[in-house]
Amino acid sequence: MNIFYNEQTNSFHLTNEKLSYQLSVENEVFLAHTYFGKRIENNHSESDYPLGNRLFSVNPSSVPGREFSVSTLPQEYPGNNNGDFRESAFEFRYQDGSFHTQLHYKGYEIFDGKPHLDGLPQTYVRSDKEAQTLKMILLDSLSGIEVHLFYTIFEQYAVITRSVQVINKGREAVSIEKVLSASIDFDRANFDSIQLSGGWAREREIERSPIFRGVHKTDSKRGTTSHAYQPFVALANSNTTEHTGEVYGFHFIYSGEFTANVEVNEYKQTRVQMGINPEHFQWTLDAGEVFQAPEVVMVYSDTGLNGMSQELHRLYQNQLIRGEHQFKERPVLINNWEGTYFDFTEEKIESIAEEASKLGFDLFVLDDGWFGKRNDDLSSLGDWFVNKEKLPNGLKTLAEKIRSKGMKFGLWFEPEMISEDSDLYREHPEWVLKAKNSLPSRGREQYMLDFNQRAVRQNIFEQMKKILDDVPIDYIKWDFNRNMSEIGSQHPDIRDGEVAHRYILGLYELLENLTRDYPHILFENCSGGGGRYDPGMLYYMPQTWASDNSDAVSRLEIQTGTSLVMPISSMGAHVSAVPNHQTGRLTSLKMRGDVAMSGNLGYELDLTTLTDREKAVVKEQIMFYKKFRSLIQFGTFHRIISPFDGANETSWIFVNENKSEALFYYYRILDKGNTGRPRVKLVGLDPIKKYRINDSEQQYFGNELMNKGIYVHAGPAKDEQNQGYHGDFRSLRLLLTEVD
Ligand code: DGJ
Repeated sequence: MNIFYNEQTNSFHLTNEKLSYQLSVENEVFLAHTYFGKRIENNHSESDYPLGNRLFSVNPSSVPGREFSVSTLPQEYPGNNNGDFRESAFEFRYQDGSFHTQLHYKGYEIFDGKPHLDGLPQTYVRSDKEAQTLKMILLDSLSGIEVHLFYTIFEQYAVITRSVQVINKGREAVSIEKVLSASIDFDRANFDSIQLSGGWAREREIERSPIFRGVHKTDSKRGTTSHAYQPFVALANSNTTEHTGEVYGFHFIYSGEFTANVEVNEYKQTRVQMGINPEHFQWTLDAGEVFQAPEVVMVYSDTGLNGMSQELHRLYQNQLIRGEHQFKERPVLINNWEGTYFDFTEEKIESIAEEASKLGFDLFVLDDGWFGKRNDDLSSLGDWFVNKEKLPNGLKTLAEKIRSKGMKFGLWFEPEMISEDSDLYREHPEWVLKAKNSLPSRGREQYMLDFNQRAVRQNIFEQMKKILDDVPIDYIKWDFNRNMSEIGSQHPDIRDGEVAHRYILGLYELLENLTRDYPHILFENCSGGGGRYDPGMLYYMPQTWASDNSDAVSRLEIQTGTSLVMPISSMGAHVSAVPNHQTGRLTSLKMRGDVAMSGNLGYELDLTTLTDREKAVVKEQIMFYKKFRSLIQFGTFHRIISPFDGANETSWIFVNENKSEALFYYYRILDKGNTGRPRVKLVGLDPIKKYRINDSEQQYFGNELMNKGIYVHAGPAKDEQNQGYHGDFRSLRLLLTEVD
């Protein structure tokens, strides 16, 4: 891995075993992008931008001539109002109302390691040997504004990370109207774009479509990344598959409002951009101040979508997730939410816990409804003290009882919210987040707390601390159940244009403090399921409840889509009761178990209502999972058949590091009757290792299983709803073990 500077050509080359990224300075001052892709040797990294007279293009350079134009030059950080007619990466407004900025290249620095971004989530290195960073310094000499672009290349990953700093070295305040974190130009447009779109209960559906002229944008104007779009976009060649071909992925390490733009211009050049959404953003940068924009991960794969996902999984697992739980096997949990909703008593919780302890669970999680006077979702958010009517002996006694049964104890919080009917609201209505001249809208009958205000964050920290110091708590589920609206602050010193971003900085500060002070607690991120399942939150919380939709069939899509960008160790997946509460569907306990086992296994139902036979199945599932959870959570995950490919099937495989063990899953959704048995080609195995499938005597070479494939059938299952080879919603699980 190295970053090279070529003085003669004024060009830069970042490269490791897997990729190359090249930049150059064109016409002495314009920072051009010259290459991103598979590793090439360090030649010709200067710009080979084809000069040519293109009518109606303008030339802002001091070198006269009609051949040069920023409207066609592939760039690294394009400005606005300067003759580049594409989307800009930034916009600054000055005191006199002007908004033209021309950034010129001023210099560079190359250093080992990766600089820390204060107050933000980010990928990190443990030693300076793991990565190198290039800092490009750009200057607008009229205003004195400097922009620093940071590029880090890691030794071990096909990844470059980018972030941006704006430094006001002028004498006057400047208003930052827009500051994206990455912009990159490709000199072709024959790509498909891939995005992860969704909604509540159907998060991260994979959408793929050819790109075309104009600007296509996925974004959030909701104060959070949201269920609707992941802060992610990929460009793939049209023939790229799960297993072959080139793809470029862009992922934003941020949990607030974002934009991800793909623009194709009249010359069929493609610009990809990512950063904080400018829509609700306006930041006043006083003289001498610095603004730090969050980090974008850019990943390259020439081994298809699986290659991209595996690179992101490894990067996030090793260089983004932190803390005691980073590499620890995740507990099998029982959560009472769908089992009881708000309607529980101490006895009820204890009876579920009693059953759980017999079935082999590691962790009991008490969900919403344990605090204030909360018996429905109309009250008490902000009052983080125990509801004595429901839990007369208090939380501590309950936690101790559960722990005495050999399980850990976890608790639900929704710390960023406030109910109108709460002591906190009655005392501090000025802590509600809302624009100064507006009335706040309710969402799920609740308001958001204004995390811009230090006193608010302090109050919530103190309330949580009081509980955490008193009750033995091993796990926290951190929920967030509405989007932001009427964005602004009631605090006179806080500017509304800064609120959406400062809110996220406030949230990150609180999370940093809590995770620092309570390192043993496993935090699970949640936002009505996976509404804020983004790399920013992953930095603080190593796992996320992937979706409120626990239906096994829906989960095939949700977990496949999620796996495009998120490591399996981060993905909460539960078995729940049937008929399923979100879809009304009846699926077998076997299929529900198999699907949930492909993430961090949990159960979310009233265990006391299960038959003895069902309890035996659950017990067996947990035993099996515990035996193989390290392979599932930390092995290499491959999608074999995607439910988004229009098939009636889904298939996944988990392979361990030395490829001596693998778990293969196959699902058939609807039975069509009298169909043939499909042959599926496995992936990710060692071609010359021999494997046994389950307990059979037969042995297969890896290359047989991968090239010839195996006939699969989903059934018969052992539990009552899943007899015979026919029927809908079938699952097959095969364990492959290397034979000596
Ligand atoms: C939404 C979460 O996603 C659910 O799992 C549950 O915790 C409810 N909130 C509780 O209100």
